[in-house]
Amino acid sequence: MRESPLALLAEITHRCPLQCPYCSNPVELAKASEEMGTGEWLRLIDEAAHLGILQIHFSGGEPMARSDLPRLIRHAREVGLYTNLITSGVLLDRERLEALVEAGIDHVQISIQDTDPANADRISAYPNGLVKKRAAALLVHEAGLALTINAVVHRQNLDRLGEMIAFAEAVSAERIEVAHVQYYGWALKNRDALMPTIAQLDAATALVAAERQRLGGRMVIDYVIPDYYARRPKACMGGWGQRFINVSPTGNVLPCHAAETIASLTFANLRDRSLADIWENDPAFAAFRGTDWMPDACRRCDRREIDWGGCRCQALALTGDAAATDPACDRSPLHGAVFALAQKASEGLPEIRAYRRIGVK
Ligand code: SF4
Ligand code: FES
Repeated sequence: MRESPLALLAEITHRCPLQCPYCSNPVELAKASEEMGTGEWLRLIDEAAHLGILQIHFSGGEPMARSDLPRLIRHAREVGLYTNLITSGVLLDRERLEALVEAGIDHVQISIQDTDPANADRISAYPNGLVKKRAAALLVHEAGLALTINAVVHRQNLDRLGEMIAFAEAVSAERIEVAHVQYYGWALKNRDALMPTIAQLDAATALVAAERQRLGGRMVIDYVIPDYYARRPKACMGGWGQRFINVSPTGNVLPCHAAETIASLTFANLRDRSLADIWENDPAFAAFRGTDWMPDACRRCDRREIDWGGCRCQALALTGDAAATDPACDRSPLHGAVFALAQKASEGLPEIRAYRRIGVK
């Protein structure tokens, strides 16, 4: 029997009041009428615990757009799962937080778009979001919950990274995750507007090193060099089909949130099959699991069981072949071209071409 996955990302809805142009949701967004119902999510939670999963991350879209969220959290706690809420924070007022605390939520992650209020509004296409996020973060801290701030960074906000770290400190977060935009789906459409310059990146990397020293462990900063400028790829999802399961609002079971961009794969649905059966036997999970599928460069490489060949969705987006060596790796024949592409993109106009909306392609 295969080793159990560690965590499940439950994307319970694609609905969201924000419209970030780098959203990790697919370009084809699920409608509310297509979402799994409460009973189906409760059954999934039971199946996840049975499979040996330890953590469940409630995400979206905006997971707080679903009124059954406290019920799902309570059930997850009852079956022994660690519960994390990944939210924009704009719907999180005192009353709604109390319901989540009462249900047993363990940890909350609140995303920010920028610390400049006008730019935050522009990037999210949502008015006055930063004030609401700050208030929500303070409530989470007051409630005694573990808090992480997620700062998604790109050319249009990276110069304020220091202020974003200060924001996280001011709301007493335990951790800030500084996440460079990943270029597939919506972000790929906006790559020219979002790609940082190499000078911005170098300044940000130096700032993170200095801030880690200053903070001395009081607050953790998670930060990695973005793929287009990296020398080695990240171990995306801890290896395809090895540690994580992602469930879409409609019940599709995926090895990662962007897997549906790989049109050559078909994904199983929880309405037809059990989670355990999909984890053990689904061809889409087997497609890039382990090392057998790897191209020669990876098979011969001593990092093949460290990064598991990088990111399949990025390999597809950049080479047209999901089984190619991830061009973030300098052993890919396309590595130099991708670095040049990043530099060229970073000279593009800062105009956002596609805000995430249902019906926009
Ligand atoms: Fe990773 Fe493959 Fe590059 Fe080796 S060749 S570092 S396994 S992506
Ligand atoms: Fe799909 Fe990296 S996002 S494998």
